[in-house]
Amino acid sequence: MNIIIKTDKEIALMRVSGKILGQILLSLKDIIEDGITTSDIEIFIRKQLKRNKVKSPFLGYHGYPAASCISVNEEIVHGIPSNKKLCEGDIVSVDLGVIYKGFITDAARTFPVGNIDKAAENLISKTKESFINGAKMAVQGNHLYDISYAIQNTIEKAGLFLVRDFVSHGTGKKLHEDPSFTNFGTQGTGPVLKKGMTLAIEPMVTIGDFNVKIRDDGWTAVTADNSLSAHYENTVLILENTFEILTEI
Ligand code: MF3
Ligand code: CO
Repeated sequence: MNIIIKTDKEIALMRVSGKILGQILLSLKDIIEDGITTSDIEIFIRKQLKRNKVKSPFLGYHGYPAASCISVNEEIVHGIPSNKKLCEGDIVSVDLGVIYKGFITDAARTFPVGNIDKAAENLISKTKESFINGAKMAVQGNHLYDISYAIQNTIEKAGLFLVRDFVSHGTGKKLHEDPSFTNFGTQGTGPVLKKGMTLAIEPMVTIGDFNVKIRDDGWTAVTADNSLSAHYENTVLILENTFEILTEI
């Protein structure tokens, strides 16, 4: 394992990358509504990437055909944008990356489509809360799996289920850098965190079971029991006594 420590110059580039990404994710709130298709969202995202003169690290990654992953309801991650229409009551997870001057940031949010029921609302808010509790552990001197433990603890206390087949990861010059790490684990284990490390922390959570199926398209991961799933991800910079979320504005 080789966890890359970013230089101050590299961190400055990742901050710009993350700000652009955070801005695009925020702007999706205004366009996601009943009747829009997931490829409408992809087209909007591509325009925003172009306007900001940045590229997508997802497009072409192991043959992935789009700039974003858009996953609806029981779809967990890696949903391919399509002519599928969103309906009031759905939840939609949008996962997006940005490359700015060679530096990548990666983030995801789950959005409600109009009014959603209480169970879906709770799933979205607990998924975000688990990310925040994990990120709080992303400071120099802690161990990597302190992050994972905090995520797992939040989700299990909420009576929800953490997806185990997908991981969080380092990011920077490459979309996926070391360390690759589960969103569950034992406190005090794993490498010691150092300032300048940049991690994409990304819990994926379900209200049913954590078992996963992959659809025939070879990409879309769905819950085996078709229960709802949410995703919350940010690229986080480790600092001496704190952490910085790079992909939020
Ligand atoms: N956040 C996801 C990940 O880190 C996005 C990858 S999508 C892919 O795995 F299309 F690039 F595979
Ligand atoms: Co990621």
